[in-house]
Amino acid sequence: MNTTTFNALCKIVYNKSGIVLSENKLALLSARINRRLRVLNIADPESYLTFLNAKGNDNEFVSLIDAISTNVTSFYRENEHFGFLADALKQWVGAGQSSFTGWCAAASTGEEPYTLAMTCAETLSTRGATTRILATDISTDVLDKCREGIYRNDKMDGIPTAYRSKYFRNAPHSKLGDPQSQVTEPLRKLLSFHRLNLSSPPFPMKGPMDFIFIRNVMIYFDNETRVRLLKEAYRLLKPGGYLMVGHCEGLTNIASDFQFVRPSIYTK
Ligand SMILES: C[S@@+](CC[C@H](N)C(=O)[O-])C[C@H]1O[C@@H](n2cnc3c(N)ncnc32)[C@H](O)[C@@H]1O
Repeated sequence: MNTTTFNALCKIVYNKSGIVLSENKLALLSARINRRLRVLNIADPESYLTFLNAKGNDNEFVSLIDAISTNVTSFYRENEHFGFLADALKQWVGAGQSSFTGWCAAASTGEEPYTLAMTCAETLSTRGATTRILATDISTDVLDKCREGIYRNDKMDGIPTAYRSKYFRNAPHSKLGDPQSQVTEPLRKLLSFHRLNLSSPPFPMKGPMDFIFIRNVMIYFDNETRVRLLKEAYRLLKPGGYLMVGHCEGLTNIASDFQFVRPSIYTK
């Protein structure tokens, strides 16, 4: 891919998703674009750029963002957040609250929102309280995976054994023959999945939310996009609610009204 095409694609990716691709990402972008070239039977990145900009090909922007987004995630990733949330939920239930709303803003393939659902179910179901969790992502591919809720068993190590038998059922093996499990329907029903671009506020949700997880996505944005996103998160969070960000995404150099609670946890 030549530099002009790379720069033009970076601009499109930024405008459509807020994701900043630095100059050293040329090889990465080429590799990811290659998948689209094969699917579309397009000869080279330059022709792909022409295709992308042609009238009537707007859907390709979604596929481009699907292809370039990094979806690394796992169950109980950065585990302390879930313990902290469970304690907060217990306190709020103790204070008389009986229904809860949370938002998982970059849900990826679902491991994070399902971890949230297990945390809420474990903490709240015996206390007679209910939960709704909104899970969003920009990538339509990962949202399909979220809705399906099927995971390879060897990717489920982080889940406590008792929860695996309580919240998962055997599913058909993968195409490559790997044993898999599916999230049970009652747990899936706690969640709703929607496509949402975090770089394009304002968002349609009203709030107030009890907790918001925006983890391991702001690293892909520039400060301007982060500030706009955090402003919306602040609007949506209830006073006293919690915002969790990724462990390497502290808000120190980002203008926002959030108050620091402990590293990677903030409140309003
Ligand atoms: C590295 S994963 C993080 C997943 C999960 N939050 C975690 O911490 O394990 C980043 C996710 O952010 C999503 N993403 C990237 N840009 C986005 C945007 N502008 N709006 C919404 N989601 C975005 C990607 O599609 C990807 O699923």
